Amino acid sequence: MFVHQQHLRHLLRPDQYYSAEQHQAELRHLLHPAWHPVAIKADLAKPGDFLTLQLLDTPLLLRNMDGELTAFLNVCPHRHSKLTDQARGSSPKLKCQYHGWEFDRDGRTGKIPDARAFRPWDRENSCLRKFRVDTCGEVVFVCLSDETPALRDWAAPFWELWNEGFGGDYEFSAAWEIDFSCNWKVILENSLESYHIPQVHPKTFKVFPEETNAWHELNPRFSSFRTIPPSEVAIRIQNWIIRRLGGRITHEYWHRVLHPHLTFSTMDSTRLIQCVLPTSPTTCRYRSMLFTLRGSRRNPLAYALYRFLKMTATFVAKKVVNEDGVIYEGVQRGLEASPHPGVIGTREERIFVFQEYVRNACKGPKALTVLEDHQVPDVANPVH
Ligand code: FES
Ligand SMILES: [Fe+2]
Repeated sequence: MFVHQQHLRHLLRPDQYYSAEQHQAELRHLLHPAWHPVAIKADLAKPGDFLTLQLLDTPLLLRNMDGELTAFLNVCPHRHSKLTDQARGSSPKLKCQYHGWEFDRDGRTGKIPDARAFRPWDRENSCLRKFRVDTCGEVVFVCLSDETPALRDWAAPFWELWNEGFGGDYEFSAAWEIDFSCNWKVILENSLESYHIPQVHPKTFKVFPEETNAWHELNPRFSSFRTIPPSEVAIRIQNWIIRRLGGRITHEYWHRVLHPHLTFSTMDSTRLIQCVLPTSPTTCRYRSMLFTLRGSRRNPLAYALYRFLKMTATFVAKKVVNEDGVIYEGVQRGLEASPHPGVIGTREERIFVFQEYVRNACKGPKALTVLEDHQVPDVANPVH
């Protein structure tokens, strides 16, 4: 059942999906303080393994330093070169690609070619900048802020679910990223409603569930959607496989969001975490990490079924992401020309909670203050 019985006001104005001011406020107040899933432990299994990525406006070097996962700013304190431009690799030493300065696990300098040329040594300004790293199950998270609570506390509403879903009975299947030409909130909001299903997913999901089969939980920090998908052939085959893998069958599909930007979808066979991050006010990167049920059985049939499940689950997850992807640019172009205030239906009420979170978290821009000053009611006037 839905929580609201009347449609809701679209709290964010169209310009808040492309303005530079809003973008800066969101970076500062929502996204810099968040934890971000960036890798899988297996990506950095051995000492010396590393990968690089751009996280918001920060280039990162994530590296296994003698068994400890460490995130450094990928910028050298000598003359500002990126330490490496390689996307991933393995090297015995953390060494800058330009003049070969070496660094230890704490980011302090080790061997420096012709070190005498740098006397007297400026210890304070020669260290790499480090960021916080933590893991939940097999997933590696990074936070750019020193103020944010520890990952376990920050992700408290979902911590146990994540921990159980990112390892144990579920094995990592696939990770992929796609760049989209839209504001990051377009993607997030799309994931928070089932209303678009008949138009955008006519073959995969076909119809949205009846209200009696759609349960919403709304909270300032998160929201959830639960439904029981119709018992079609594909679901019955999936349940047959799950039983042979020794998995548990609940028949439930859940979609959860942890504000600002992490979603977690679960079926009995899969666990999918997705993270959307802006790359500019009107572009973003959508990262997905999929885990598939491996179960408790260890026999050749169970292994073959697991492989089949992993292949089909990855195929379907990518297909759904691509189906949604077709609509994003059109939404963005519409936002950039829209004279309308917008409206949110009861089936889309999780979007209202998300927009409320964004509005409250962004203390900076004047535009948001104006909305608050006018004490906009939560429920708009009826649509004619
Ligand atoms: S810029 Fe890194 S060693 Fe010179
Ligand atoms: Fe969708």
